[in-house]
Amino acid sequence: MTDTEIKKGLAGVVVDYTAVSKVNPETNSLLYRGYPVQELAATQSFEAVAYLLWHGELPTDVQLAQLRATERQYRALSPDVRAVIDHVPLDAHPMDEVRTAVSLIGAKDLAGSGSVMDAGGTADENLARSIRLFAALPAIVAYGQRRRRGLEPVESRDDLDYAANFLWLTFGKEADEVVVDAFNRSMILYAEHSFNASTFTARVVTSTLSDLYSAVVAAIGALKGPLHGGANEAVLHIFDEIGTASNVVPWLDTALAEKRKIMGFGHRVYKRGDSRVPTMKAALDTLVEHYDRPEVAELYDTLESEFVSRKGIYPNLDYPSGPAYNLIGFDTLTFTPLFVAARVTGWTAHIMEQASANALIRPLSEYNGPDERHIDGYVPDEAVL
Ligand code: CMC
Repeated sequence: MTDTEIKKGLAGVVVDYTAVSKVNPETNSLLYRGYPVQELAATQSFEAVAYLLWHGELPTDVQLAQLRATERQYRALSPDVRAVIDHVPLDAHPMDEVRTAVSLIGAKDLAGSGSVMDAGGTADENLARSIRLFAALPAIVAYGQRRRRGLEPVESRDDLDYAANFLWLTFGKEADEVVVDAFNRSMILYAEHSFNASTFTARVVTSTLSDLYSAVVAAIGALKGPLHGGANEAVLHIFDEIGTASNVVPWLDTALAEKRKIMGFGHRVYKRGDSRVPTMKAALDTLVEHYDRPEVAELYDTLESEFVSRKGIYPNLDYPSGPAYNLIGFDTLTFTPLFVAARVTGWTAHIMEQASANALIRPLSEYNGPDERHIDGYVPDEAVL
């Protein structure tokens, strides 16, 4: 062994520049292309934020209208994408369904594109691919939830913008304005977060000059894990386990004695609170009021104050978004696919950035296996055989 310093989990390692977003744990802020995320969530549509992430500037009215028109064009799922989703077992995790559907959309779009040398695509092609996925993901996610509930799919409504249409596709009825607004905010808050695990995964794949769809499929795999995107689903499992605010203290006593991780708390970068939480908590509060479910807020607040006072570890975005999605009516297993639909904008912005100034991502490792040895004279270990 040498004295090489190992940066386990790449903690604290700066691997590249990015102009897409800036996380500042000291000031507890998150900027997308320079704009504070809470300002964007309060004033913009998710489509406008997607445009910002891709192009670096907020759209003019004309540019936004153009993006919305293109997005509407790619909303519908083709019969073969529906068929491939139908082949995914009903009891498979919806993230596997989403990953599979994206993979087929990519294979179809890239069919006939020639050798791997052309896989990466031009900047214009990658922007078109990004919009295609952005537009198709609501239908994929909604189709999956309806399929698991034994419901027929619903067709998109051209008179509805992204967030309202997403809710229409999922529930087959027009959502109230307050619900559309909370959902739109959640999409914006989830859209981008610098070099998180799934975004870095997408950049690694892109760095080999592979295609955008392969990078997104790999990112979906990374997002599925409960230490990353899977945490919003895990928060609801915890809420279900606890039941009511009066059970928080005994539940937490046991969970901490068993050294369990409390999902929805903690962050690799933010150590004094996640900058997205206040905005999402405000959206959750409007939903609590709208659906008249004060017990949800009571459980939320009690668990937060107990856990923070005992461990000094603060909630992350998944903590308020899990119960918010539950109140809106999404199945718990659909929460992480919602994260995919939002984060695909950040992933694709990073994929295009990586492609525009590429260097193959290929770190080193420190070997700690057996010393050099040779086959000559090898004797099988009878005890092992
Ligand atoms: N519950 C209990 N203990 C925790 C938690 C938690 N949620 N988070 C951190 N800790 C403890 C951890 O046990 C460790 O304690 P010790 O030093 O005594 O072993 C210490 O805090 C440091 O934790 P770590 O896991 O080594 O730190 P990290 O920077 O690798 O952790 C994290 C970041 C997000 C993986 C972790 O906080 C965690 O597992 N949280 C729960 C899962 C979760 O909510 N994930 C969503 C992350 S934010 C949204 C996203 O990116 O998708």
